[in-house]
Amino acid sequence: MAAPAVPLPEPIRNPEIKYTQLFINNEYVDCVSGKTFPTINPSTGEKIIDIQEGDKADIDKAVEAAKEAFKDSSPWRQMNASTRGVLLNKLADLLERDRLYISSLEVMDNGKPFRDMYLNDYSMILNTIRYYAGWTDKICGKTIPVDGPFFCYTKHEPVGICGQIIPWNFPLAMLSWKIAPALACGNCVVLKPAEQTPLTALYIGTLIKEAGFPPGVVNIVPGYGPTAGAAISSHPDINKVAFTGSTEARQLIMEAAAKSNLKRVTLELGGKSPNVVFADADLDFAAEMSHQALFYNMGQCCTAGSRTYVQEEIYEEFTKKLINRAKNRVVGDPLDTKNESGPQIDEEQYKKILSLIESGVKEGAKLECGGKAVEGKGYFIEPTVFTGVTEDMTIGKQEIFGPVQQILKFKTMEEVIEKANNTSYGLAAAIFTKDLGKAVTFTNKVKAGTVWVNIYNWITAQSPFGGFKMSGVGRELGEYGLAQYTEVKNVIINPMAK
Ligand code: NAI
Ligand code: MG
Repeated sequence: MAAPAVPLPEPIRNPEIKYTQLFINNEYVDCVSGKTFPTINPSTGEKIIDIQEGDKADIDKAVEAAKEAFKDSSPWRQMNASTRGVLLNKLADLLERDRLYISSLEVMDNGKPFRDMYLNDYSMILNTIRYYAGWTDKICGKTIPVDGPFFCYTKHEPVGICGQIIPWNFPLAMLSWKIAPALACGNCVVLKPAEQTPLTALYIGTLIKEAGFPPGVVNIVPGYGPTAGAAISSHPDINKVAFTGSTEARQLIMEAAAKSNLKRVTLELGGKSPNVVFADADLDFAAEMSHQALFYNMGQCCTAGSRTYVQEEIYEEFTKKLINRAKNRVVGDPLDTKNESGPQIDEEQYKKILSLIESGVKEGAKLECGGKAVEGKGYFIEPTVFTGVTEDMTIGKQEIFGPVQQILKFKTMEEVIEKANNTSYGLAAAIFTKDLGKAVTFTNKVKAGTVWVNIYNWITAQSPFGGFKMSGVGRELGEYGLAQYTEVKNVIINPMAK
């Protein structure tokens, strides 16, 4: 992700938590059931605080607020498109004002290194909101020379009420990817943060209000997937659902959307992304990129380069570089800015990753380093590297979403393209080579929504992001992302009518 040139301040330890209630109609309110759920600090495994637990009844309330805000006569619908841009820019300014506090809050709830949050996630968040702020008054239709004496034009209208279900790996960044294009196009939003990481989303409520968005335009309801999440995907008055998360939840969401009201669905799911290193690459650079491609954010990236394909003639040499780099990765307290990795998000993910590591050993891959939990509190796992991995092993096929690198060997371009594409996923892929011909052949043939050449994880607000095959439906970011938040209306006028 784009690295900005801003100084890194000292993080706030134990930032004050200001909001634990649902944000509906620009007010913080208790949930209907009176239930709460704990949010846990993954660095310690201890509870941070109890959060009001949203459920179907609360989603209903949020949808009612959003419907009111979306009425034709409402301030939001009457607002100039350019003014929506002013509000989004104001929101970005407020986020910039509170950058240190919000970054510290996110680190407490999510465990990602403070430096990654403050520098990388945060610049993505600000860039995304400002990028879409610029689009608000540039979302145009066409005039079309139709057959007959008629005047034809298209309008791109907001879809309406958008349900947005976000994950825990980049909580605030994923929120920005969802709300910014939705609001730019004039929609209203009911958003559910992941149950593991509700704190920053709840804080954003107050900034939405301060920025001047009318009540009901953005509603934030924390809660669990099968309850609050399912209430969004099956709601008859929600017109579109956008989701980032697991393949399992995706199937349930698409099914609920189909069975309820055929709401529009966009999905951003996982991957088992191939990262291919040819013998002619700049090997030191490719090694550092391949390392970060997997270990960044503790391996909890949908785009993680989790199948590192290394060409036969450099296999020994390159693998050594990767193992040494993983051994030297500094793991520890995410607030300490010398640390490169923090804990995994929760106990469930931590156990899942450890059991996948076990399966790698059992199925005959060679464990080169790591492989264990880090002793002490929290959900820390040692950076782990497997060599001799093949595509039929569980760790060669399944998304691990943890700090576990799989190294595989290949000989030829033809072979590696076939292997790269031999997966149900298709989110991202990368190639490291100095040969332009190889780069073009690979980018043409690999089935992935994003292909990087001599770089990895370069994700920006301006260009589209999404998956082929089971990695997704639709695209987020860039101009392409707007298409998912508008309906196209075709208008045909008979100018001759009396
Ligand atoms: P998940 O898909 O269950 O959670 C993501 C979001 O979906 C959360 O807000 C959750 O509450 C919601 N959700 C869950 N079930 C739902 C349902 N039935 N209806 C509506 N919403 C629902 O992901 P989970 O269980 O936390 O992680 C499992 C695996 O998913 C990870 O190990 C990883 O492989 C993958 N994952 C991928 C992400 C990505 O960025 N593509 C992000 C998070 C997880
Ligand atoms: Mg789940």
